[in-house]
Amino acid sequence: MNDTEIITNYIQNTPKTELHLHIEGSLEPELMFKLSKRNKIEIPFKSVDEIRSAYNFSNLDSFLKIYYQGSNVLITEEDFFDLTWEYILRCKKDNIVHTEIFFDPQSHTERGIEFNTIINGIYGALKKANAEFNITSKIIMCFLRHLDEEPCFEILNQALKHKDKIIAVGLDSSERGNPPKKFKNLFETAIKEGFLTVAHAGEEGPPEYIWDSLKLLKVKRIDHGVQCLKDNKLVDLLKKNQIPLTVCPLSNIKLCVFDKLENHNLKKMLDKELRVMVNSDDPAYFGGYLNSNLVETSKALNLGLEDVKILIKNSFKSSFLDEKSKNIWLSKI
Ligand code: HPA
Ligand code: ZN
Repeated sequence: MNDTEIITNYIQNTPKTELHLHIEGSLEPELMFKLSKRNKIEIPFKSVDEIRSAYNFSNLDSFLKIYYQGSNVLITEEDFFDLTWEYILRCKKDNIVHTEIFFDPQSHTERGIEFNTIINGIYGALKKANAEFNITSKIIMCFLRHLDEEPCFEILNQALKHKDKIIAVGLDSSERGNPPKKFKNLFETAIKEGFLTVAHAGEEGPPEYIWDSLKLLKVKRIDHGVQCLKDNKLVDLLKKNQIPLTVCPLSNIKLCVFDKLENHNLKKMLDKELRVMVNSDDPAYFGGYLNSNLVETSKALNLGLEDVKILIKNSFKSSFLDEKSKNIWLSKI
């Protein structure tokens, strides 16, 4: 076996966790098409191929437009169950043993879908994943940062009834112009209610958004964070406190954060001993699930087996699993 084959095999055979995955971003064109028919929801595409060929993005906002449009086909609890179950089957294939998934309630409640319908569908599939495949999971509820803070409190209120199912709140959607400070009060309340916090920051936005996510939103992890290398002081802090950065390489290429995978800064971040790991973000839109992200990134950046091991270990270390479970998995890597 050559080095690439060794690394590819290692990635396939090693138990892994995923910490940055939007469940709505795992909606494959085939299921989108099926649900649009099942629910009689019009989509502006005539075929699965037409959907796929529309996936050319120039930045985050150009993707979000298509992503929210795709989510419109999700109506019933069964739809949310099917969506999540399809992702779980991918986890099984990729040997993901623990996953922490985001959902965007506001992209559904704004269309008149009940909060309970969404969470019960997702949770039902995750319960089945645990029963059938021993895959464990956590759910993170994201607020849409292009919306105002005020209506988010109502969503937080709804989440209180499902505290047993939701471990943390996060922040996603259009980053530039929607700084973390806009949601300071909301996150303060969420923390008081017992939720952990995470936030997308430094995907397209400046290092300042990473600083403010840490200081104002008290996040346990930064989602993406790739813009941090522009600020040496920030790098020092991220290294010293081993703040997890949930990097998503194929997403960054599809959304033109970097021009090509060979120019991604993941290896530089690893070399600076930052707590980075690899994730798939919105795999149905960005062309690859977790193992593809790991394999393609390893090839493009010439990562060695030790680098890949560190990435996989970092992911377990940064998960919201209890210490005992983390240690059991870490001992197997
Ligand atoms: N960034 C911000 N919001 C998102 C993303 C992302 O990569 N994916 C889904 N919502
Ligand atoms: Zn994301």
